[in-house]
Amino acid sequence: MNKTKFRSYNKITPKLGKKVYVDESSILVGDISIGDDVSIWPLVAARGDVNTISIGNRTNVQDGTVLHVTRKSAGNPTGNPLIIGEDVTVGHKCMLHGCTLGDRILVGMGAIIMDGAVIENDVFIGAGSLVPPHKTLESGYLYVGNPIKQVRLLKESEQAFLSQSAINYVELKNEYLAQQ
Ligand SMILES: CC(C)(COP(=O)(O)OP(=O)(O)OC[C@H]1O[C@@H](n2cnc3c(N)ncnc32)[C@H](O)[C@@H]1OP(=O)(O)O)[C@@H](O)C(=O)NCCC(=O)NCCS
Repeated sequence: MNKTKFRSYNKITPKLGKKVYVDESSILVGDISIGDDVSIWPLVAARGDVNTISIGNRTNVQDGTVLHVTRKSAGNPTGNPLIIGEDVTVGHKCMLHGCTLGDRILVGMGAIIMDGAVIENDVFIGAGSLVPPHKTLESGYLYVGNPIKQVRLLKESEQAFLSQSAINYVELKNEYLAQQ
């Protein structure tokens, strides 16, 4: 492993699934578990130090995104790990902090998702949205805004795009892997 992008903390080093692509400029620290066919694009910073990060199969985390977690404390005995499901697209320059995302979600560019928020499966989050702490976003809906609000049910085309976006990024990262 390239030590400049995979760093250990408390002797724990990120664990990678099969056929994972991580750009050379990204930095992954500590207790991070990454599934198969995941792609991590340039300048992603992921820090699994005071809690854990997991990223499901075929998920893509795009350029400039920051992933972090919250430590355990007396008032918050589990802290807030970051859990990202399968086939999730995390757009450019997002901030995901100590939250839980299900499967087939699009996190629009520049969105911020705060501690304890739960995003159910099949949700589309508009660019620039802010999801406040402990908010739950319901499956099957488009949400936008700061603070985020439910807009409407997803159209069939948007629902299909959630899976298609993940497929597109698996194909793209395979091209990048083939060129290494
Ligand atoms: C929200 C989104 C899905 C568009 O949904 P839509 O229903 O087609 O929206 P429209 O473009 O018809 O716009 C409807 C209204 O929402 C507003 N709007 C659109 N995107 C918005 C956003 N991200 N946040 C707040 N308002 C938004 C529009 O200004 C418009 O407002 P108006 O009715 O007052 O004029 C899209 O703008 C978006 O944010 N996509 C995310 C793309 C992305 O970041 N991909 C990841 C990188 S690959």
